[in-house]
Amino acid sequence: MTALFSPLALRSLTLRNRIGVSPMCQYSSQEGFATDWHLVHLGAFATGGAALVFSEATAVTPEGRISPQDLGIWNDAHIPALRRVTDFVRAQGAVAGIQLAHAGRKASTRRPWEGRNAVAPSDGGWSDVMAPSAVPYSMNYPLPRALDSEGIVRVIDAFVSGAQRALAAGFQVAEIHAAHGYLLHEFLSPLSNHRTDEYGGSFANRARLVLQVCNAVRGVWPDSLPVFVRISATDWADGGWDVNESVQLAQQLKAIGIDVIDCSSGGLAAHQHIVVSPGYQVPFAQRIKHDADIVTAAVGLITDAQQAEQIVAQNKADIVLLAREMLRNPHWALHAAHELGVDGPWPVQYERAKLPRENA
Ligand SMILES: Cc1cc2nc3c(=O)[nH]c(=O)nc-3n(C[C@H](O)[C@H](O)[C@H](O)COP(=O)(O)O)c2cc1C
Repeated sequence: MTALFSPLALRSLTLRNRIGVSPMCQYSSQEGFATDWHLVHLGAFATGGAALVFSEATAVTPEGRISPQDLGIWNDAHIPALRRVTDFVRAQGAVAGIQLAHAGRKASTRRPWEGRNAVAPSDGGWSDVMAPSAVPYSMNYPLPRALDSEGIVRVIDAFVSGAQRALAAGFQVAEIHAAHGYLLHEFLSPLSNHRTDEYGGSFANRARLVLQVCNAVRGVWPDSLPVFVRISATDWADGGWDVNESVQLAQQLKAIGIDVIDCSSGGLAAHQHIVVSPGYQVPFAQRIKHDADIVTAAVGLITDAQQAEQIVAQNKADIVLLAREMLRNPHWALHAAHELGVDGPWPVQYERAKLPRENA
């Protein structure tokens, strides 16, 4: 047995291997509804042998969408179309995870292939963009309004309601998105959080909202199922959030019952300086795993079976999440199994295509 294809128990859930599909926005919804695109896109990863298939960032409020076309979970009406996706994913032996998200000051922007700038309300955008402080992400982004204390309570409530709906929709893993410069990360980082109340200034104050949201979601998510938190382990910018603070936060998240830290980075500051190379974020997962004694997921330029195997075998992370490589090859896990000499989780319908190739 390889490390990559060994199962992982998280509370009463068992992942069939260590391979997950990282959340990836599809910008293909209207009014937040999942469509056939989501069924086919996410379903392919489940038939392709991944253990854990995450939905894209799924907005807990309409104004928390990155773009007008984001997936959403702010309304009970969103549940049935998502249920169709999770039923299919589970029927393939995979676990369906949802990333619960609020875009904060990076909301109301165009989808990437339309050029990332702010979308005007006259063009389907919205003016009610919020953040810890009234500081835009960049010149082309909306000017946010600083959340007041009622607004903060509404954000916490929205994550809780989103989690409850996610459960009703059949998801078994909830991931709270506190990375990539979106609302919760904006509270963590001193570069975007200039508040002088109990939500700004010290580490404890900047971490307060993330901990409150996670605690509240943990409170409604069943004890038998895990909750993940995605963080940006560093802002890659002077004066920003850093790895030491990430370790400290992970320790506190563990204490309130968070099961897994999904270790990404960046996205907060337009002037970030990232040095990218294969597996470049794995050291964050490794550091947090060992210093906070918590299960971690590594992500970022993991593309190769041997590379993924080494990450898990060398105890650098417990789970590998792949994004772009899964788009290139949704059956990546089946190919990785073959490369590592393991009998991968092929769907019975695909038995005759099993590697190594035989004569038909
Ligand atoms: C098309 C696309 C959409 C993405 N959307 C999200 C998202 O919704 N939430 C998130 O946390 N990260 C998102 N990401 C980042 C990925 O989850 C992942 O962290 C990043 O692409 C690095 O992994 P990779 O090198 O395997 O692609 C997205 C990436 C891509 C390529």
